[in-house]
Amino acid sequence: MNDLSALNSRFSLPGLLKFETGEGGLTRVAVTSGIADAHIYLHGAHVTHYQRKGYEPLLFMSGKSLFAEGKAIRGGIPLIFPWFGARAGDAAAPAHGFARTLPWDLRAAKQIGDSVAITLALEPSDATRRWFAQDFELIYTVSIGASLQLVLEVHNRSSTPFSFEEALHTYCNVGDVRQVSIEGLSGRTYIDKTAALARKTQAGPIRISSETDRVYLDTTETVAVSDPMKRQRIVVAKRGSSTTVIWNPWIDKAKGMADFGDDEWPRMLCIETANAADNAVQLQAGQSHAMTATLGVERE
Ligand code: BG6
Repeated sequence: MNDLSALNSRFSLPGLLKFETGEGGLTRVAVTSGIADAHIYLHGAHVTHYQRKGYEPLLFMSGKSLFAEGKAIRGGIPLIFPWFGARAGDAAAPAHGFARTLPWDLRAAKQIGDSVAITLALEPSDATRRWFAQDFELIYTVSIGASLQLVLEVHNRSSTPFSFEEALHTYCNVGDVRQVSIEGLSGRTYIDKTAALARKTQAGPIRISSETDRVYLDTTETVAVSDPMKRQRIVVAKRGSSTTVIWNPWIDKAKGMADFGDDEWPRMLCIETANAADNAVQLQAGQSHAMTATLGVERE
């Protein structure tokens, strides 16, 4: 159901939540509360904006992003499922799976205390069966309050086990990526995608001084990004996630991306709450898995 007036008559919360036409003519949910504002597109269940009152927007959005059916949005929080990055052994498969480029259904919109919770769902279609034969159901609940909470549930609705990778590919808005310090991953093993997948060990906080594309394995800790220019910290806490991905394209890769400005790389840093590579999830028939990320912003 995509018709704006039908969506509004069924789900809108007067003064708090409405459906509107967003960029590229795509439908989005707009939340405006006394505590925070947010935009969520039905396309990809993509959160493109979250701003706690009194703070700067937490999410980076590229000025060059596409907003079109079948295309990924650049910035915000792409939702990655059922594979992360390139699909092993299948060059024709879209990068990062199909969930971020398909339309999702709106299941519920509720006010819960100070927060507004929006639940979206994705079920199998011809577009997914082409890549993933088993029946699944994704349920994604985005709660907008003093923090931004994201819960992605994967349900195995088929009669056989399946495995999957997933990520909440959060683009954080930072003052200058060269000045931030990322804490919470010291001592951890990571796969360095800029060094032929070499496995390395993190020593101390992460500083960004070149292209950075790292998959930190077996990491369940909270990660904090200290941003001296913005005088704030972005804190990413999580449950049900064993992988943390840190990504910044730096100069050359930025130039190679058509949907990303050449000079935008200093203002973003991806901190991805994930289950990928060694941490892919095996799900038995009839079982479910939930991954939660809670994003907060604090003064420093
Ligand atoms: C990161 C990957 O998660 O996403 C990178 O680790 C990739 O390798 C980046 O370049 C962006 O991917 P995409 O498909 O959105 O351009």
